[in-house]
Amino acid sequence: MENGALLDTIGNTPLVELCAMSPKEGVRIYAKLEGQNPTGSLKDRIAKNMIEKAEREGNLDPNVTILEPTSGNTGISLALVARLKGYKIKVVMPDSVSPERTQLLEAYGAEIIYSEGRYGSNGAIALAQEIMSKSSNGNYFMPYQYGNEANPEAHYKTTGAEIVRDLPEVDVFIAGLGTGGTLMGVGRRLKEHRKDIKIVAVAPEPDEAIQGLRDLEEGFIPPILDLSLLDSRVMAKSIDAFRGTRELMRREGIFAGISSGSVIWAAMKVAESMDKGNIVCLLADGGWKYLSTGLWTKDSEQMEREARGKIWW
Ligand SMILES: Cc1ncc(COP(=O)(O)O)c(C=O)c1O
Repeated sequence: MENGALLDTIGNTPLVELCAMSPKEGVRIYAKLEGQNPTGSLKDRIAKNMIEKAEREGNLDPNVTILEPTSGNTGISLALVARLKGYKIKVVMPDSVSPERTQLLEAYGAEIIYSEGRYGSNGAIALAQEIMSKSSNGNYFMPYQYGNEANPEAHYKTTGAEIVRDLPEVDVFIAGLGTGGTLMGVGRRLKEHRKDIKIVAVAPEPDEAIQGLRDLEEGFIPPILDLSLLDSRVMAKSIDAFRGTRELMRREGIFAGISSGSVIWAAMKVAESMDKGNIVCLLADGGWKYLSTGLWTKDSEQMEREARGKIWW
């Protein structure tokens, strides 16, 4: 048997109803729990698809090192796939990310190159591209999740198809906007299923930071992102994300990451504007990588003070 049976367990994540989160009786909110994937995030889906596409196209062999700019989750997922398939991997990451990410990447065997935290994920992209352009041809392969169609394709073929299978009566889909891969892939699949479905993106307000999500006003539009597929964009503050994350735990016992909190907060707002219908929220990762923020143990006043002062980010 080929080493990598764990890769077959990626996807088919649970879709659960959040009965305690809906502000209205006729509106039901469901959550797709991507934290249940092997490394704990949605990115396992795209890492597997991007690497297997590169293998099919002859872009990878054991002498080539995988190089990817990432704020964490994609790097962790790529490191798992690389380990099981026998490739070397380097990830370029802002030096401001949480210590759990660094430790996980090291545990999975990735080499980390740090970019300056104040330039965020755009700084990591620029540094990775510089390393790539300075290396002699063929040393590195960059999956480049921002521009690789295998990213949305993974969500089209798996995440979107699973939602149609598990809840054919879906009316609204809400997810965070990072590369846009989730929204594009799931959005295309759901719109094929029902033309009038609404696809809602959640992004940080300008000058706010939510790990994994991107403010398009900063100027970088990922090449895979087709804005015409989005029906609306909800802008969230980091405090909205923190509150949503804590409420998920308090009301539903769901231990999810901080971008998931912003998605749930947006879902509750969207639910208020509907009379009836089904909303599916994608919760991108589990809470483990955010424990060092103390989010679940601080009292509310301290949390709000720190969010205003941006001590965490
Ligand atoms: C925690 C988290 N939430 C949401 C997203 C957004 O997903 P996508 O890149 O598919 O837009 C990411 C992407 O990195 C993420 O890491």
